[in-house]
Amino acid sequence: MRKKVVAGNWKMNNDLIMSNDLIYSIKLKLNKDNDTDIFISPSFPFLNESIKHCKGTKIKVLAQNVNENKSGAYTGEVSLSMLKSIGIDSVLIGHSERREYYHETDDILLKKLSNSLDEGFKVFFCIGESLNDRKNDLHFDVIEKQLKNTIFKIEKINHENLIIAYEPVWAIGTGLTASPDQAQEIHAFIRKNIAQRFGENFSNNISIIYGGSVKPDSASDIFSKVDVDGGLIGGASLNAQDFVKIVNSI
Ligand code: PGA
Repeated sequence: MRKKVVAGNWKMNNDLIMSNDLIYSIKLKLNKDNDTDIFISPSFPFLNESIKHCKGTKIKVLAQNVNENKSGAYTGEVSLSMLKSIGIDSVLIGHSERREYYHETDDILLKKLSNSLDEGFKVFFCIGESLNDRKNDLHFDVIEKQLKNTIFKIEKINHENLIIAYEPVWAIGTGLTASPDQAQEIHAFIRKNIAQRFGENFSNNISIIYGGSVKPDSASDIFSKVDVDGGLIGGASLNAQDFVKIVNSI
């Protein structure tokens, strides 16, 4: 059985007090019997404290980024071993905002992915096409290329350590959501490609989640699709009630 996963991508939002308040509210509202894997991703300065607040709950803490190098003269960057030392064991890689604003190429992302998996981290790896790609009917090609340049170059992966997030760039923060059928079409395509590369068993067991303007009122339709195993939630994850509603929509 594939894991259901909902992760909140908090991005560069919330100061310390707001982060703590949000965690507190999510904890209060969350149904203890929920068997969905739930992640939140506060900013780096608050990770350590967030882990302590989430201890003993179902909520896991996810880092929004990591540097591709192990250590050294990379001013302002954060390494896998730093994250590990405070108890973080999952990381978000390949988000379109990092690809676009910080020029993270497939080669850089492959290095981040490979190092993270080697260190035993669970990786949320984002792929997705731009609006132009979609308009020019290139979405399948773009997705296939992103997979081939990154995930498919890894020799062997434990399916429990990889979650693929399909995030059409045109749907992120725009209020435009891929229709449930559009999401299902791409998720099925990703799963088919994964099966060809890593085998049916791997492909049936890997969680593929959708991200891009998922809101409490759109979540259940998207999550009802057979190849959609959850969501990566941006804006709506900053509100405890909305986030928990989305978690409960699975
Ligand atoms: P959004 O962000 O839900 O605000 O569109 C999703 C994401 O960037 O992961």
